[in-house]
Amino acid sequence: MNPERTSAGPILITGASGQLGAALVKGAQAAGLAHRAVQRPAFDFDNPASIAQICAETSPSLIINAAAWTAVDAAETNQDAAWRANRDGPATLAAYAAEQHIPLIHISTDYVFDGSKGAPYIESDQVAPLGVYGASKEAGERAVLSTGAASMVLRTAWVFSAGRANFARTMIEAGRKRPELRVVADQRGTPTAAPDLAAAILRIVALIQRTGWQPHYGGIFHATNQGATTWHGFATEIFAQAARHGETAPTIVPITTQDWPTPVRRPADSRLDGQKLAAVFGITLPDWRDATRRVIADMLTQPASAP
Ligand SMILES: NC(=O)c1ccc[n+]([C@@H]2O[C@H](COP(=O)([O-])OP(=O)(O)OC[C@H]3O[C@@H](n4cnc5c(N)ncnc54)[C@H](OP(=O)(O)O)[C@@H]3O)[C@@H](O)[C@H]2O)c1
Repeated sequence: MNPERTSAGPILITGASGQLGAALVKGAQAAGLAHRAVQRPAFDFDNPASIAQICAETSPSLIINAAAWTAVDAAETNQDAAWRANRDGPATLAAYAAEQHIPLIHISTDYVFDGSKGAPYIESDQVAPLGVYGASKEAGERAVLSTGAASMVLRTAWVFSAGRANFARTMIEAGRKRPELRVVADQRGTPTAAPDLAAAILRIVALIQRTGWQPHYGGIFHATNQGATTWHGFATEIFAQAARHGETAPTIVPITTQDWPTPVRRPADSRLDGQKLAAVFGITLPDWRDATRRVIADMLTQPASAP
């Protein structure tokens, strides 16, 4: 028996203006899934009353929290806001979910790890965040999982999409301005397309709606596209795909992390092992190269970003 209520009320999607939030909204619309999408200022982790108000007026059957402070370096100088968005806000949502007996799907990051394992991380591996962003997201995971809510934490990585600012868009825009780009070639991870992650999440939602919440749905899962590369490899693939749409590729020069100092160190190797997601939900995301091909095609055929 499980007490969770999954049949009445819309799905609440937070952070709808973000990469993942927007992809979730698009996917939910396409699937005819009853949902309510919220974003700032109506739903703002800096304004706890707004969280309570949105929850009360929506009475959701399930919450997907795609809202977060995602600016890794800026988190160091805006620590309070990062902790509010990445730990305190999710804790409030999880407390509401526990009280209402509804499931919560919360998104986290590969940056909870320090990247020193030298192999893909599994869910139970020791966390060791390198900065405030990673630490606040890691605390958010614990806050969500400790409330007793029917909660699932999906860790993802290197999220990109055709829309909002991200590495792929930055590369395309920089490549239009400069003949040569220097890109870090000694950090390894997996680019993950927001639409692919959204599709995986919506499959999980459909399963929860069909079966009701099951205890083995709870806990942490790793969810990225398949395969791995470096930022340099990703940039190279981005321009290979962009060339198919008439973009001129700049020279992409490999550099080291030391050549590109940032306020926060990034994990050297943050590959995530997705076998648990495959075993429990039968979900494997597509290869990152295939994802790059689709996202770049979307990006370069959208009217607003046409050259
Ligand atoms: N981006 C990545 O590379 C990456 C990597 C690993 C994990 N993740 C995780 O994946 C999830 C989705 O990331 P994303 O790439 O879609 O992020 P994103 O594009 O930066 O979007 C973040 C969303 O959160 C909202 N938000 C920020 N601060 C907020 C606050 N105080 N209160 C309420 N909403 C707030 C933003 O609203 P505004 O539009 O108003 O700013 C936006 O809707 C996050 O949990 C993130 O930590 C991302």
